[in-house]
Amino acid sequence: VAADEIFRPNFHFTPQENWMNDPNGMFYLNGTYHLFFQYYPEGNVWGPMHWGHATSKDMVTWEELPIALEPDEFGYIFSGSAVVDVDNTSGFGDGTTPPVVAIFTYHDPKGEAEGRIDYQSQAIAYSLDEGKTWTKYEANPVIANPDIKDFRDPKVIWDEQNQQWLMALATVDRNLFYGSPNLKDWELLSEFGEATGAHDGVWECPDFFPMKVENSEEIKWVLIQSLNPGGFNGGSGTQYFVGDFNGKEFKVDPSMENLPEKHDHWIDYGKDNYAGVTWSNIPDSDGRKLFMGWMSNWLYAQEVPTETWRSSMTVARELTLKKVGDTYRIFSMPVEELDTYKEALFQVDQLMVKTSAEIAPEVEKDLTRAEIKFEIPNLKQTNYEFSLSNLEGEILKFGYKHSKKQFYINREESGIIDFNDEFAGTISYGPRTSKSDTLSVLMILDRTSIELFYDKGETLMTEIFFPEKPYTSFSVKGEGDFELKNIEINQFNFEKKN
Ligand code: FRU
Repeated sequence: VAADEIFRPNFHFTPQENWMNDPNGMFYLNGTYHLFFQYYPEGNVWGPMHWGHATSKDMVTWEELPIALEPDEFGYIFSGSAVVDVDNTSGFGDGTTPPVVAIFTYHDPKGEAEGRIDYQSQAIAYSLDEGKTWTKYEANPVIANPDIKDFRDPKVIWDEQNQQWLMALATVDRNLFYGSPNLKDWELLSEFGEATGAHDGVWECPDFFPMKVENSEEIKWVLIQSLNPGGFNGGSGTQYFVGDFNGKEFKVDPSMENLPEKHDHWIDYGKDNYAGVTWSNIPDSDGRKLFMGWMSNWLYAQEVPTETWRSSMTVARELTLKKVGDTYRIFSMPVEELDTYKEALFQVDQLMVKTSAEIAPEVEKDLTRAEIKFEIPNLKQTNYEFSLSNLEGEILKFGYKHSKKQFYINREESGIIDFNDEFAGTISYGPRTSKSDTLSVLMILDRTSIELFYDKGETLMTEIFFPEKPYTSFSVKGEGDFELKNIEINQFNFEKKN
């Protein structure tokens, strides 16, 4: 067993070997969730991109399959999406099986080396065996490069309202929207983004879709927009915009027009959730918006202390859209499928903390596959700090600075950090937008990651860490006495499903 297996996640998807980045082409079909991913099968750093492939029945446990798409004379296979062409609008079907169509970016390394700017174009491929094998379209590209250097990551949906295939495509500082009747012929509809949001980097990996606003009949369109660098805490990050779409143009809600760089509409404020997008072809009877991101950051992804493989994905999450005050916010929570693996370990309704306390020291718990939940009512102290630690003195500190309405994560003493100065050089923070005087905290813990869902999914922080030994204790600390409510520690058991 390689020494780095101590860092291998217990339940977050990671390839057996070699380099992975963005999730790609996620679709659901016949009871199976498909995940493709940017993959370099010959090394543990980024290289000529392929689409790796994995499947799952529940978005929790994954099986890795053979590579789905390989580079060819037109270039590397960059990020993109996949749709199930139920009505065979593309004509790729054989009359019985609806084709699955992948839409991706060709990145031509020769053009790049020659100093050209037109080396990225959009192409398609189809599969008649549920994504196992693919045939590239003979008339690729379907969208040629219009002399724009960064021109990539097509995300396509079936736009039911306007009866069209709709593509969001990222370029430098904006998104281009294209429409198509058949996935082959694309027409530029409009563009969006230059005037609002964070721009200290290149826009990449968009996702654009309608969502029902919770507790209303209102439908709004959501644009998820990754950018790198220029993320909220530096490096890679994912912001979002909410507005209306008339079949051609996206009009952002007035509350999100002219957002400054440091705005408060981000999918996640941790450093490690990037390029996330949603699954396609989820049945109406389910109706969920299901999301997954790459759990790393271009600042240091290629240097993290795993050698056999590099990077994992976040847990799958369900997104919901809520009206909050005079704006709209995306909430994320882990998918409920994760609950089927849960075993209750510890539960207490109320705990009075005398300045600080270790939670459930007497309970034998494996914090490399656990869920911890609690609430803090009557917020009034300046700072509430939580920590995960081991007997070696490695400690991950995170918490909520109530005086500044800020969440934070501090990786300085979390374990191995010296592989890159950016990894622990700054403390990450995220603004708390909820006005509730009760803070609810839910954390999903794996061997090398924490996913924090605050305020029932209103603010998230996802980060990775590399302790030499697993963390074994969880503590809370304030400046005086405070109360914790509804504490629960649950263990994920992947041997036995409920
Ligand atoms: C985002 C990204 C995409 C691109 C891919 C290449 O992480 O830079 O824009 O398609 O990675 O692997």
